[in-house]
Amino acid sequence: MKLSGSTVLVTGVGAGNLGHHFVEQLIERGASRVYATARRPETVDAPGSEVLQLDLTDRDSIAAAAARARDVNVLINNASVFAAGLTFTGGDRDVIRRSFDTNVYGTLDMVRAFAPILAANGGGAVLNVLSSAAWATSDGINVYAASKAALWSMTKGLRSELSTQGTHVSSLVFGMASTPALKAFAEAVAGPGTLDAMMTDPAVIVRRALDGLESGHAEILADRLAVDAKAALSGDGPSVYAALTGE
Ligand SMILES: NC(=O)c1ccc[n+]([C@@H]2O[C@H](COP(=O)([O-])OP(=O)(O)OC[C@H]3O[C@@H](n4cnc5c(N)ncnc54)[C@H](OP(=O)(O)O)[C@@H]3O)[C@@H](O)[C@H]2O)c1
Repeated sequence: MKLSGSTVLVTGVGAGNLGHHFVEQLIERGASRVYATARRPETVDAPGSEVLQLDLTDRDSIAAAAARARDVNVLINNASVFAAGLTFTGGDRDVIRRSFDTNVYGTLDMVRAFAPILAANGGGAVLNVLSSAAWATSDGINVYAASKAALWSMTKGLRSELSTQGTHVSSLVFGMASTPALKAFAEAVAGPGTLDAMMTDPAVIVRRALDGLESGHAEILADRLAVDAKAALSGDGPSVYAALTGE
């Protein structure tokens, strides 16, 4: 599919993060309209885009965005929450539930709200942003990893279900991009600069994501960690995230 001339909605746009790079590069690729959405739209600085309020855990806000953005033919589900250090056994159950409410059910609610719009606009595409944590967890990221694993499986189901209306569904998988959120987390757990070599520039991840989407790939593995994590699924070795959590 060509992104030039398309109308795209991106969730989770914030300063210097992956969503911000999506918006910037979509405009560079000639998208005719880009909706940049955020929980707090006043924090978004994304020139050339149309900024909309959207909270994945609030179905009314999703419905309002869908009512406004009826011309969308590409949906990029990028937003998610990551509660660092949260454990299944000792962590606050409400925070665990919020991880799934946002990352899994919030993404599902987006797809359910926008699937009829995509169908009406010729089928189009959905890109779900996963993580190699879906395939390789480690203490400190277990709850987030489980939510991304659920999203991985859900994305495969959606790919099949939405193919009947001509909507292509892709997943983007990568391990570490040097966004402000990831850098802050990595510095807190491993010290400043320690993990820099494992991180990829978010602009590079987004370029690979959009290339993959335009080429019609179902699963876009955008860094080495993703490739290694997928390969390790058939084995019993250490997690690719061992360096992050000091295991
Ligand atoms: N950076 C990495 O190394 C890495 C690796 C693998 C996968 N990923 C994935 O890549 C995506 C972007 O990550 P990032 O590094 O750019 O982190 P980020 O800056 O934390 O981006 C997440 C975005 O989601 C938004 N969000 C959270 N809860 C929301 C809700 N209920 N409704 C709407 N928006 C909500 C956040 O908004 P607020 O500012 O309001 O919280 C933020 O803008 C995420 O899906 C993440 O899991 C990142």
